[in-house]
Amino acid sequence: MSDPIIMDGKARSKSIIEEVTAATRRLRDETGVQPGLAVVIVGSDPASQVYVGSKAKRAEECGFKSVKHELTEDTSEDELLKVVDALNRDDTIHGILVQLPLPKQIDDAKVIQAIDADKDVDGFHLVNVGRIATGAADEAFVPCTPAGCMVMIRDVLGDDLSGLNAVIVGRSNIVGKPMAQLLLAANATVTIAHSRTRDLASVCAKADILVAAVGRPEMITGDFVKDGAVVVDVGINRVEAADKGANADGSPKTRLVGDVAYDEAAAKARAITPVPGGVGPMTIGMLMANTLRSAYRAAG
Ligand code: GUN
Repeated sequence: MSDPIIMDGKARSKSIIEEVTAATRRLRDETGVQPGLAVVIVGSDPASQVYVGSKAKRAEECGFKSVKHELTEDTSEDELLKVVDALNRDDTIHGILVQLPLPKQIDDAKVIQAIDADKDVDGFHLVNVGRIATGAADEAFVPCTPAGCMVMIRDVLGDDLSGLNAVIVGRSNIVGKPMAQLLLAANATVTIAHSRTRDLASVCAKADILVAAVGRPEMITGDFVKDGAVVVDVGINRVEAADKGANADGSPKTRLVGDVAYDEAAAKARAITPVPGGVGPMTIGMLMANTLRSAYRAAG
């Protein structure tokens, strides 16, 4: 195979952010409305802190009003629901994102359903899930990670995926299931595989489009990949990197890897996303696009 197209999510996301920034300026000039994004984090999980920090920072760069609510690990469900309720009523806020996972005393589903569906820029509310499942994705907020994957897939294959087999490995509500709906809406023939799928390698080897979202480092090896497949790696796994030596405190250095064994897959793929710098940055770009869209709707 010739060298694959490397789907550069960092560059693609940058172009989306630039478009969002320009459209934000136009919206403000024409209507006086400034898009507002509120991100809420409960507890101090370091990975979540990093994600939420970059979402808030990127919102500011787009020219949005950006609000961050940081609540302590022992916050009760009622307290969090009060914060969500206040944001629902706040006309300067068009997007609300409550970072998951939440501490164990809080029911994730209850909090997500409490968010106004028209401010649910994560696309997790049942109303938005239902809109996507019934083919009304145009009216829905589409979850940001699958939306970002679709942009990259369409960049390579175009809008109509008729006749193509798509296999998604992973059945989460955040990625696997909405990804399946979006690929189906684009006319692909869709299989959702998961940890209990029998002979996963041969199921994946039939995929023209292979989306890996299992959270297992480098489990999708070369034998899972069909020649000429478009491979999208949603995984972000931190693993020990023995070859990099140790940190000052003696702990081993680490590196980020995806769910796909990159070199083996790249040797067969027509196009592939790197980790880091692939799907990850796209997720934030799509969050900004969803928030802008919400502000446009609010502006009438
Ligand atoms: N945790 C991991 N990914 C996401 C996401 O896309 N949105 C929210 N709210 N929490 C997450």
